[in-house]
Formats: sequence, structure tokens, C-alpha cells
Amino acid sequence: MIIKVSPASACHESEVTPEAIYLSRRALMGAGAALAAGSALPAWAEGEVSRYEGVEAGAAPAWLQAKLGQVRWQAVTAPGEAITPYKDATHYNNFYEFGTDKSDPAENAASLKTQPWSVVIDGEVTKPGTYALEDVLKPYQLEERIYRLRCVEAWSMVIPWLGFPLAELLKRVEPTSRARYVRFETLQDPASMPGQRSSFSYIRWPYEEGLRLDEAMHPLTLLAVGMYGRELPNQNGAPLRLVVPWKYGFKGIKSIVKISLVAEQPSTTWQSIAPDEYGFYANVNPQVDHPRWTQARERRLPSGLFAPNVRETQMFNGYAEEVANLYTGLDLRKNY
Ligand code: MTE
Repeated sequence: MIIKVSPASACHESEVTPEAIYLSRRALMGAGAALAAGSALPAWAEGEVSRYEGVEAGAAPAWLQAKLGQVRWQAVTAPGEAITPYKDATHYNNFYEFGTDKSDPAENAASLKTQPWSVVIDGEVTKPGTYALEDVLKPYQLEERIYRLRCVEAWSMVIPWLGFPLAELLKRVEPTSRARYVRFETLQDPASMPGQRSSFSYIRWPYEEGLRLDEAMHPLTLLAVGMYGRELPNQNGAPLRLVVPWKYGFKGIKSIVKISLVAEQPSTTWQSIAPDEYGFYANVNPQVDHPRWTQARERRLPSGLFAPNVRETQMFNGYAEEVANLYTGLDLRKNY
């Protein structure tokens, strides 16, 4: 992103939650197994505290609460990774529609109205239409997937998402043989989004993103409606966002209102602002630096100024085994 300070110095994390209180993967697996054994709904579905530390109550509609209560637990995990505390994942955000500071989305996104919500699906599909979110989700059992999230600004987190594979939705609307890319669009509503009212904004709204069709159909590509056992907070992209774990976080477009199947590579927000810095592919790649900083390392949040939690960045954010074959023969230096 075009940012005012270098990413290495942008860290103001003061609340460092001791690692001991993170739920370990083993503990989570245990919780999942207990639920799979058919005991009860998870506590949060009954308005209780989530199994994740510090999760705050939200206001999802009843149909979504019910859906979140039937999650197929832990479809994908991140072995050996500690889950980022909820507070960090929900108070250190990029959502420029609500301001450019990391704390702005949590402060301002309450104005976003997420009910009712519908998604237009159009372009090269045999079943175009405007679908109510409830109908979009109806056929699916949601999965919990713990993914690393690597921002192009060189910070990272580990987030437990709740969602379903984008591929399932795309198959349902039946792409035509001309469809080669998928384009996504965020809500445009200056009345509720102060960033869209700002005359200083260098973004041409609405925020837009895109994937090649085979990337969109990849089983790791997720449409998320929740995180940390409950619905998405507004600042994280409620009620529907994209998660592509092997790409930089800016591909993860929030509050999606439109999905178009198209023949040509679509324009994307960050590429159109600074094409030398942000490419269409945006695959996490420690060997291809951003022109203004290295991508070889990342700060895993929370990361204090005096105890920086720095680690090596992994090729395709650690998902190379699953996705490298999508890019056989492609020059990843040119196609960054
Ligand atoms: N989607 C929209 N509509 N607007 C944005 O500004 N920021 C992107 C992405 N999706 C953004 C967006 C960027 S730069 C990142 S790193 C991730 O959202 C951050 O997601 P998070 O705030 O949930 O960590």
C-alpha cells in the first residue's frame, strides 16, 4: 500500500497477549472433536463467550448464527502456528473505505449496514442474478480454516476463518467457456463509508479485485462470512470477503457486492494506483521485493517495538505445495 511510514516502523502494538493464553492447535482439535461427537452448539452460538480468547459479541442475523453453529471444524489448520489474538486481528486493519490508519476501520465501520445484503453475479455465467446472501450460503456447510495472512506491508497474522470455497459458488452459476477471470467489487456507499467521501482519497471507488479463473477455483480460495467462531466484524469485511492465503492481503477484498466472470484480466484497485509496486498476481514471494522494502521477512503480529516478532517469509506464504503448479512457466518476477 502507499503508506506514510515504512512498514517496519509502522508498528504500534502495545497489547501483547502472552502466548500461553493462545489456544493451541491441540486444544482446538480437542474442541472440534468434542463438537463433532455431537454434544452441543458451540457456546458463542448461544450468546456465550467464544472458545477464542477476547471475542466480542456481534449481531449476526439468526440464519447466519445457525449456519455458523453447524461449522465443519478445522478443514484446514496451520500446524505449529499460534492464532493471532482477536483484538489484534480486529483492531489493526486495512479497510480504506473507513480511513487510512490501522485503527480507523474498528472505529468507523459500525456505520456499515450489512443486513439485508445481496450479491450480484454476472458476466460470463449461465445463471446470472442478484442473490440474497442467505441464498448464496444456503447449500453450504461452513468450514473453519486457519490461514496465515501476509500483508504486502510485511506484517502477518494467523486467522481462523469461517467460510466455504469460492469454487462451489462459481460452479453453481456455471461459468461459460469465455470466462477466464473473476472480478470482485466492494460496496460503494459514501453515506456509510467516510473514506469514500474524502476528497483526499487516491482510490477510485469501489475497491475492486480479481483472480484468474483457475486461482478462483482452487480449493484454498475461500469466501469468508466469519472468523474466530463468529460472524465477521465489519472492519474485517462483513458480511462476505475473499481470502486467498497464498497472495498478499490486498487481494482479500472485503464487503463484496458483485462477482463478475469476465474474459479479460480485470483492473484491480492497487495495481491501477501503483502498477510498479502492486501487481495483479500479488503472490507472496520472498524473492521479489517491493520497490521500497524487502519481502524476505515479515513481522508476525502482535509484535512490540522492543520485541519485534520477525520471521522469514515463505514462498506462496507456505502454500507452495498446493498452489505452485498454478504458475508453471510463468515468470514470477515479471508477474508479481
Ligand atoms: N477490501 C476493501 N474493500 N478495502 C480495503 O481497503 N484492504 C485490503 C484487504 N481488503 C482493503 C480490502 C488489504 S490492503 C488488506 S492487507 C486486507 O484487506 C486486510 O484485512 P484485515 O483488515 O482483515 O486484516
